[in-house]
Amino acid sequence: MRILVTGGAGFIGSHLVDRLMENEKNEVIVADNYFTGCKDNLRKWIGHPRFELIRHDVTEPLLVEVDQIYHLACPASPIFYKYNPVKTIKTNVIGTLNMLGLAKRVGARILLTSTSEVYGDPLVHPQPESYWGNVNPIGVRSCYDEGKRVAETLMFDYHRQHGIEIRIARIFNTYGPRMNIDDGRVVSNFIAQALRGEPLTVQKPGTQTRSFCYVSDMVDGLIRLMEGENTGPINIGNPGEFTMTELAETVKELINPGVEINMVENTPDDPRQRKPDITNTKALLGWEPKVKLRDGLPLMEEDFRQRLGVAKKK
Ligand SMILES: NC(=O)c1ccc[n+]([C@@H]2O[C@H](COP(=O)([O-])OP(=O)(O)OC[C@H]3O[C@@H](n4cnc5c(N)ncnc54)[C@H](O)[C@@H]3O)[C@@H](O)[C@H]2O)c1
Repeated sequence: MRILVTGGAGFIGSHLVDRLMENEKNEVIVADNYFTGCKDNLRKWIGHPRFELIRHDVTEPLLVEVDQIYHLACPASPIFYKYNPVKTIKTNVIGTLNMLGLAKRVGARILLTSTSEVYGDPLVHPQPESYWGNVNPIGVRSCYDEGKRVAETLMFDYHRQHGIEIRIARIFNTYGPRMNIDDGRVVSNFIAQALRGEPLTVQKPGTQTRSFCYVSDMVDGLIRLMEGENTGPINIGNPGEFTMTELAETVKELINPGVEINMVENTPDDPRQRKPDITNTKALLGWEPKVKLRDGLPLMEEDFRQRLGVAKKK
């Protein structure tokens, strides 16, 4: 199997590459423009005979002979996707068109990593795949959430019109080693702040909830979806729900009981609650998350300690 992973130098992509490379029958090609990813995430595979790394921006066409495409390329954290919103929407729309064009030309199956952001600020809780969402089309997050919604539309139009084999994963918040430090995502923020001995900044009111899926569970779900028969869209995420205040308290307890927790102003359109309904995911993929937040956080702490150069207290 020859597999293309766009965005494979990023957080989830590089863990996916690790898992795909474990199978000796796979050849893996990564295409990435290194906007938020880096070669270092893939250092153990550079030079490997079954691995290739291409500096490529998915807003430009790409032609490679592959059997499967995992299309992840897109900045995922608000700081980075808001940095150049026009580029973000181009990546989602033109990038997905280009990858669908490639899938059509070479007859590959293509999986899109969509997002729980397609549900916007949901009026239904928890969110099943059948929920159409409550999204602001003109807000500062729209380049990302509306971009992903169009990407999903393109996937289904290519499927209906051209018979392309598609898979759509709606990913909920994922965390783990190799997340960008200081990328504004709440778990990486809290861990970096706790390790630096800075106050943990909880956006008001602190009662907004999120669910957090450890990256190894996410990769397992993505591969099951690609290998299975169901097109999706299918939710992949951990239904364990935590308020932001609870998350801050857990990080404080596990990593640095000495730090304070401070409340700060929130950003516009921040959803109040988010939790995947994974009934279909369990039934159709036989998947459910295994790693609990309390077990996953210390694994991420270790990676952040090394990158921040903060030694563990004896
Ligand atoms: N991490 C999460 O919690 C989460 C949640 C929902 C959806 N997702 C989706 O999963 C995918 C991966 O997210 P991640 O957390 O690993 O993010 P990430 O930012 O670590 O990885 C994204 C990768 O895509 C690359 N990229 C960005 N724009 C590109 C372009 N135009 N051309 C080529 N490469 C480009 C980046 O350099 C990076 O390596 C994204 O599609 C994201 O929308 C992630």
